[in-house]
Amino acid sequence: MAEISPLTITIELNGSHVRSTVEPRMLLVEWIRGVAGQTGTHVGCDTSYCGACTVLLNDQPVKSCTVLAAQADGARVRTVEGLEQDGQPCRLQQCFSKHHALQCGYCTPGMLMAATALLDKGDTVDEAAVRKALSGNVCRCTGYQNIVTAVMAAAQQN
Ligand code: FES
Ligand code: FES
Repeated sequence: MAEISPLTITIELNGSHVRSTVEPRMLLVEWIRGVAGQTGTHVGCDTSYCGACTVLLNDQPVKSCTVLAAQADGARVRTVEGLEQDGQPCRLQQCFSKHHALQCGYCTPGMLMAATALLDKGDTVDEAAVRKALSGNVCRCTGYQNIVTAVMAAAQQN
């Protein structure tokens, strides 16, 4: 069987260009956590169901367990580590804290990134739009209401 050679890729991760050599089969979430060392992005399933691994790929939310690292070559990736502004939690993160939008926190990075994609569009959002934007993200703790409330609060400050 022919051997598949490693690939050298460069990904802009939270504003920094990271060059690395990877196996073609490496998933983007494995690259983020294992190669780039940014472990805020979580893995919560092996079925592409939970959304804990959601990141922004060229501003679009993707489940990073469904994307190969090699597919992100040359792209911009933003993770939860990229949300801080001037060393402080961003407005959305502050709203999550204020409105008790997390309990165990395992789903939170993915929720934050899915919500960021919605808020970054700059459109007026209602509760239905928030619920739709978060529909690919599972939370086993909160019952979702406080998460929706937090995103709505951040949207109103947009
Ligand atoms: S880890 Fe569950 S969807 Fe990616
Ligand atoms: S806060 Fe625990 S899974 Fe969402």
